[in-house]
Amino acid sequence: AGSGKFFVGGNWKCNGTKDSISKLIADLNNAKLEPDVDVVVAPPFVYIDQVKTSLTDRIEVSGQNSWVGKGGAFTGEISVEQLKDLGCKWVILGHSERRHVIGEKDEFIGKKAAYALSEGLGVIACIGELLEEREAGKTFDVCFQQLKAYADAVPSWDNIVIAYEPVWAIGTGKVASPEQAQEVHIALRDWLKNNVSAEVASKTRIIYGGSVNGGNSAELAKKEDIDGFLVGGASLKGPEFATIVNSVT
Ligand code: G3P
Repeated sequence: AGSGKFFVGGNWKCNGTKDSISKLIADLNNAKLEPDVDVVVAPPFVYIDQVKTSLTDRIEVSGQNSWVGKGGAFTGEISVEQLKDLGCKWVILGHSERRHVIGEKDEFIGKKAAYALSEGLGVIACIGELLEEREAGKTFDVCFQQLKAYADAVPSWDNIVIAYEPVWAIGTGKVASPEQAQEVHIALRDWLKNNVSAEVASKTRIIYGGSVNGGNSAELAKKEDIDGFLVGGASLKGPEFATIVNSVT
């Protein structure tokens, strides 16, 4: 951890019921969270209102996606304005599941980021390589290209957190080693320095996602350029998520 306040996001993905979510909220409300950490959860859209109504204000709420522009005749989409209306402060964009399962492309994701920022939402901007790309030695190329698509689209980096999530580590139990994650994070920071500015490079938080859990987060958090986590599976368990939040100390 090095740049700015440690940031831990819980991405609940397409999981939960009213009942399981009310239990998770109760566990989060009871958890002791280190004060000097930004904590955000991203519930499925349909439960955001339930979460906002009963979750402690200590934890901010994020959408898992948003539409690329103003709402209207876009069946099945959720607009930035609607997320704001429900009290969300953040949106996750460019998640690998949206890139590789749904087929979202760099340019479209960049436009979504620019629109969300223009409306005042913070953006958790995800990037990351597939296993075959890593094995072909293309990790940096792929990550830089995805990062460039954001850089080309956004006017400012003030409200962006970069989430590096190697696709081979997501939901697989195969967490990147602290060294593997650090190597990419520092390369991303260098890319920002050379292509955006030294200030943005030093201020922007770069968080890691992919099989983070209560047992491996402390070692990862020791690395200089790992400024937090985006947690999937382990964020569905309140006490374990709290352990991850508190792993920076
Ligand atoms: O966005 C978080 C995520 O993709 C990581 O998921 O389940 O490997 O922690 P998981």
